[in-house]
Amino acid sequence: MKIWAHRGCSQMYPENTILAFEKAAAIEGLAGIELDIQLSRDGHMVVCHDERVDRTTDGIGEVRGFTLAELKGLRIEAGGGRTERIPTIEEVLDLLEPKFAGGFKLNIELKNSNFPYEGMEERIVELVQERGLQGNVIYSSFSALSLEKLRRIDPRAEIGMLDTKVSDCLFKLKGGCGANALHPFWRGIDLPAEQLRGYAVRAWLSGHLYPERPTGGRLDLAALEGRGITDLFLNEPEVYC
Ligand code: G3P
Ligand code: CA
Repeated sequence: MKIWAHRGCSQMYPENTILAFEKAAAIEGLAGIELDIQLSRDGHMVVCHDERVDRTTDGIGEVRGFTLAELKGLRIEAGGGRTERIPTIEEVLDLLEPKFAGGFKLNIELKNSNFPYEGMEERIVELVQERGLQGNVIYSSFSALSLEKLRRIDPRAEIGMLDTKVSDCLFKLKGGCGANALHPFWRGIDLPAEQLRGYAVRAWLSGHLYPERPTGGRLDLAALEGRGITDLFLNEPEVYC
């Protein structure tokens, strides 16, 4: 089972921050990091999960309503006197640069189901190609249309189809969105493992306001593998690596 850090080490540290990514990058044996990108009002790719900044920062409003400079003015309380800021994707790539040579992966989720963020697909592919990171990056989105566009822009990209149920991931994928991997919710494996064979099945756990902790305290990785899951995005990857 490959273990990933979901929004960085987001159980113990503020999600999608440089601090959470630094902690993840320091974990021996971690496959990679998952994060979410959106566009600021002036077109910068910033790393933030919610469409609004309210939950994770001291600001109020939609990410797309702020310029990058304004977003950088918002504070994220990180404990121990440390304050984090919303990172740009470039800052995260800079941080992970030393890891990429060793095969470390980055799953960039385009958070564009509610707002389409015109041009985000072109921008992120261009940046990844500029830095020669095509072999390290996996793109994903809940939007099949966005992935279809991404596939047209980069025919060789690795792309994961997000949905809650794995059957819906597969359905969307077969509809021609160009994805080649399935990214379901970990409790959404509603097909027999035989039907998932041949796919990377990267399952995610959720919950940050109400952090999801597996019943019994620990995930049974062998049982999850038996269901066809190949990778897990965990908020607490440090517990499983
Ligand atoms: O990419 C996997 C997972 O992060 C999708 O859900 O809401 O945590 O972005 P969410
Ligand atoms: Ca995500």
